[in-house]
Amino acid sequence: MAVREVLRMGDDRLLQVAGPVQEFGTPELTSIITDMFDTMEAYDGAGLAAPQIGIPLRVVIFGIEENPRYPDVEPVPMTVLINPEIRVISPEKESGWEGCLSVPGMRGRVARYSRLHYRGFTADGEVFDREASGFHARVVQHECDHLDGILYPARIDDMRYFGFEDVLFPELVAKNGE
Ligand code: NI
Repeated sequence: MAVREVLRMGDDRLLQVAGPVQEFGTPELTSIITDMFDTMEAYDGAGLAAPQIGIPLRVVIFGIEENPRYPDVEPVPMTVLINPEIRVISPEKESGWEGCLSVPGMRGRVARYSRLHYRGFTADGEVFDREASGFHARVVQHECDHLDGILYPARIDDMRYFGFEDVLFPELVAKNGE
């Protein structure tokens, strides 16, 4: 169990396409996932992808209960999603603010599909699938993008809506005492 260093934008390893997990239920996979949760919690993230801690595998975690970085979003179940596949349900998109532990201190507005279906594997190799909308769908798209080497700034279509968190949301930062 360990909080790992989160790679920051500019690091080549964040631009690689990650490979699929081939073996499930191994101690190595368990320890990667444990470290990912420790790291996500330490930084109050809503999600984390394995490449962000330098592991080039198609593993993402996400979930939000009460999170000071995202005070106004609906809860998302704590999830481990491996080798994910996303199917978009409708072409409709919605814009919303995103942040990323690899782009610290910044937020940007990104248009994401508002409803999708995703499937993948648990850490033990069980298949599961879900439908998601709203913030849940946004987090899934953001995290799965990391597996293909895409960081959210590449998805911002209007760069006027990209800026520093403490300037954009001073009340949020004040509340967190940062
Ligand atoms: Ni991210």
